[in-house]
Amino acid sequence: MVLTRHILALATLATSTLAVDCPGADTAGTPCTDGVFVLSARGTDLNFNLPFQNGPNYTEQQGQQDVATALVDKAGGYCRSLPYASSPYLLYFPSINYGIKQGQSTIREYVDRCKSTVNPRIVLLGYSQGGQTMTSVLIGGQGYPTLEDYKQYITGGAFFASPSFVANYPIDGGNSTTSGLFARGPVSYNYFSTTYSNRLRNFCQAGDVFCANAGFSDEAGRIHENAVNAYKQEAIDFLWPLV
Ligand SMILES: *[C@@H]1O[C@H](CO)[C@@H](O)[C@H](O)[C@H]1NC(C)=O
Ligand SMILES: *[C@@H]1O[C@H](CO)[C@@H](O)[C@H](O)[C@H]1NC(C)=O
Repeated sequence: MVLTRHILALATLATSTLAVDCPGADTAGTPCTDGVFVLSARGTDLNFNLPFQNGPNYTEQQGQQDVATALVDKAGGYCRSLPYASSPYLLYFPSINYGIKQGQSTIREYVDRCKSTVNPRIVLLGYSQGGQTMTSVLIGGQGYPTLEDYKQYITGGAFFASPSFVANYPIDGGNSTTSGLFARGPVSYNYFSTTYSNRLRNFCQAGDVFCANAGFSDEAGRIHENAVNAYKQEAIDFLWPLV
């Protein structure tokens, strides 16, 4: 009897912590779901140097799949990786440009195809370059418009250590009081915060090399690399009631 209870408890635990992975939206598709469609964008991949393609590691979500797992566990649905290059250095902005295009077209296509049969509920995640890309997917930039016409389908989001972070807005999470290396301008960031702060958090920890523009040091780099780990539980707690 005790043993049976023990096994049942283990089974429950196993089911509720079964990790969701995030295959590419380009290869796995985006079937219409009444659950959540989580679209997640990885951070920079130092190995990739072609900006207008998908990077070889673009399905590695660097811990963000733990957030996706918690949300899919509650609401049903699935996670997909944003197909983009996440290239470094001189290819950084071209890579983001391609990512914005991919993100906006993925969201528009999903909503247009699915809204007559399900209630589209999209959750966006992004780490580092992925957070900057997802921010621009929502508020435009680099020649792209905002996603204003689709904002009601964005159920929630969490971005971690985005270099386009701007400090001291309601949408911000974490404790940075300084803005990022590629901080967005006040007009577009104010639009971001006003439109999405009830359902999205843009996390940045004080001292982060990129999102807090804290300068290059081992400690600043460690803070940046640890960002998803540092804030994923807070992200889950914030998003859980929304999905
Ligand atoms: C990315 O993929 C390449 C092979 O395509 C591999 O050598 C490299 O270690 C991967 N990078 C990361 C950060 O996992
Ligand atoms: C910011 O938050 C982190 C994590 O909670 C903490 O370790 C750090 O001391 C805080 N830094 C500042 C400057 O408040």
